[in-house]
Amino acid sequence: MAKYADVYNDWKSDPGAFWMEAAEEIDWVSAPTTAFDGDAGVYGRWFPDGVCNTAYNCLDRHVEAGRGEDTALIYDSPITGKKKSYSFAELTDEVAAFAGILEAKGVEKGDRVIVYMPMVPEAAIAMLACARIGAIHSVVFGGFAPHELATRINDAKPKLMVSASCGIEPNRVIPYKPMLDAAIEQSVHKPDACIILQREDVTAELGARDHDWAALVAEAKAEGVTAAPEPMAATDPLYILYTSGTTGQPKGVVRDTGGHMVALKWSMEHVYAVKPGDTFWAASDVGWVVGHSYIVYAPLLQGCATIVFEGKPVGTPDAGVFWRVIEEHKVAALFTAPTAFRAIKKEDPNAELLENYDTSSLRTLFLAGERADPDTIQWAERKLDVPVIDNWWQTETGWPITANPRGIETLPVKYGSSTVPMPGYEIHILDEGGHEVGAPSTLGAVCIKLPLPPGCLPTLWGNDDRFRNSYLNHFPGYYETSDAGMIDEDGYLHIMARTDDIINVAGHRLSTGGMEEVLSGHQAVAECAVLGTFCDLKGQKPLGLIVLKSGVTEAPEDIEKACVKLVREEIGAVAALKHILVVQRLPKTRSGKILRATIRKIADGEPWKMPATIDDPVILDEITEVLKARGLVQHDLQPSA
Ligand code: COA
Ligand code: AMP
Repeated sequence: MAKYADVYNDWKSDPGAFWMEAAEEIDWVSAPTTAFDGDAGVYGRWFPDGVCNTAYNCLDRHVEAGRGEDTALIYDSPITGKKKSYSFAELTDEVAAFAGILEAKGVEKGDRVIVYMPMVPEAAIAMLACARIGAIHSVVFGGFAPHELATRINDAKPKLMVSASCGIEPNRVIPYKPMLDAAIEQSVHKPDACIILQREDVTAELGARDHDWAALVAEAKAEGVTAAPEPMAATDPLYILYTSGTTGQPKGVVRDTGGHMVALKWSMEHVYAVKPGDTFWAASDVGWVVGHSYIVYAPLLQGCATIVFEGKPVGTPDAGVFWRVIEEHKVAALFTAPTAFRAIKKEDPNAELLENYDTSSLRTLFLAGERADPDTIQWAERKLDVPVIDNWWQTETGWPITANPRGIETLPVKYGSSTVPMPGYEIHILDEGGHEVGAPSTLGAVCIKLPLPPGCLPTLWGNDDRFRNSYLNHFPGYYETSDAGMIDEDGYLHIMARTDDIINVAGHRLSTGGMEEVLSGHQAVAECAVLGTFCDLKGQKPLGLIVLKSGVTEAPEDIEKACVKLVREEIGAVAALKHILVVQRLPKTRSGKILRATIRKIADGEPWKMPATIDDPVILDEITEVLKARGLVQHDLQPSA
């Protein structure tokens, strides 16, 4: 059996040959003759002369190979009580029909389509239908508010939008249509048409530009309307996925067609160790990169059955729902964020509900999206009795940068480490000056030597300059991940923290800069700071501090509440900013930089040092008092000498 080190060295000694061999796993309209063109694009492009179609590889090819009756997609919705299963043949028909509908509505190759939907199979159908005709989808997570959606509409300029009448959260039904309308109202760009999936809980009122999903599909099927897979250049964009940057303007991560398939297919075999016919379950949301890669594209490329799960790890109906889904659908690999397991552990610490289910089909649990704390990994290992594999990556890369390559060799687990780099990724730990830190286990900026492997972003949508400025310019010759970490003496990577203003709340990537922009917009707020503090459930939670303008007469607690509401309205419930405190002043350096890291340490009860550059040390005492009075200090520690 191959060893990880051999596979990694194979890649390193001849990256082009390595990826050309991996590319043989894809059905090409015209196979690439070159792996990589270093002169194309910002840092080069993969498979420059390959021609292919992603939807064809996810669906038709399996039908043509005689697997049409095998299960492709399972919709399991404990929140509505609904379940439905599609075979590869059925899913191909649904996608081809919806692709025909898109074409009939004037959507052409290269046009953008925004998908703003809850976790229903139609979300995946819409994505695959876009892929079939070469339209570029941009899925926006349902927890984002109209303003966030409007920002994405203005940037992506969609010809058409696909949405649903509502999403369903455990404590409420969320009508989507009013949010969609509000977003279009706010945006400068207007789509030509919207297709709305009506759900039982809420019926949306349809306006002049709106069309009913079910009616269109019924009509298309009656008339035999379908669309054939469009031959796409491997370098054509498949989708744009917006992710948080350091400002309120999200970054439109572009994914290409050919390299994406090659990388995902490779990862299913070598990282996730699943075979055609296995059930692969990524308990995430199609609005995030995990959902794009491992709910929709990778499992279907690999010929696995994928699960679209509309529910939560707890409360729908209980902390046993993951075990129920594993048993019922014979899940071979589960992929989720550590938060989900922390939620289950909190609710059912001894995993008593597990005793009601047979989870013997499960071979591996994969965790990603945020730091996997050793307690959670060990708890899952003990309870499930399968390897628990941490893997580290980003929206930008689309597939794991570091992982334990379960399909090659399961390396010894080191708690707190996401294990080793996958082929394609040469990781360097650099100091501020861009030099190698040198000694093992020395903290620095985690950077990837260019070029990035297939599957990673070639650029940001319509903005090569922002791509260069955000990722490539700081450390010439490298992609800057904005994560800080270290590589130990065994070559294992340990991710420690973000180096920018991004925080990670329940595996959701959020911009504190974006939240600060919203708070600054409140008429009573003079200045503000938002930072991520420790949360035993969600990993991090945001905390906002605001200083009021002089002369403001409104009660501070009313302004705090109004600010919480404002962030929820502008960014969305997903921001989860529940604590905003009025303070007299913000601690700053003499050059005016707000000392967010020190405030975070105070709130987290970590030892902290008085920064040498602080302008007025007394302010930190004031902040400490306010945090303590509000019960927002985790432990009571004093500054260390
Ligand atoms: N549409 C609308 N609102 C949404 C939403 C969606 N798709 N997803 C979340 N929200 C809302 C929630 O209802 C919640 O609202 P509230 O403040 O009124 O309660 C808010 O956004 C924050 O959501 P979340 O941070 O997810 O907290 P939660 O308390 O609802 O759930 C967990 C906590 C741990 C159960 C949940 O985060 C979870 O299942 N996480 C698993 C990890 C995961 O899926 N990560 C994604 C990347 S891999
Ligand atoms: P996203 O783009 O939403 O996938 O978020 C990517 C960021 O989440 C990374 O840059 C890390 O900061 C964090 N992250 C993702 N996976 C891990 C992991 N396995 N360990 C530590 N941090 C992670």
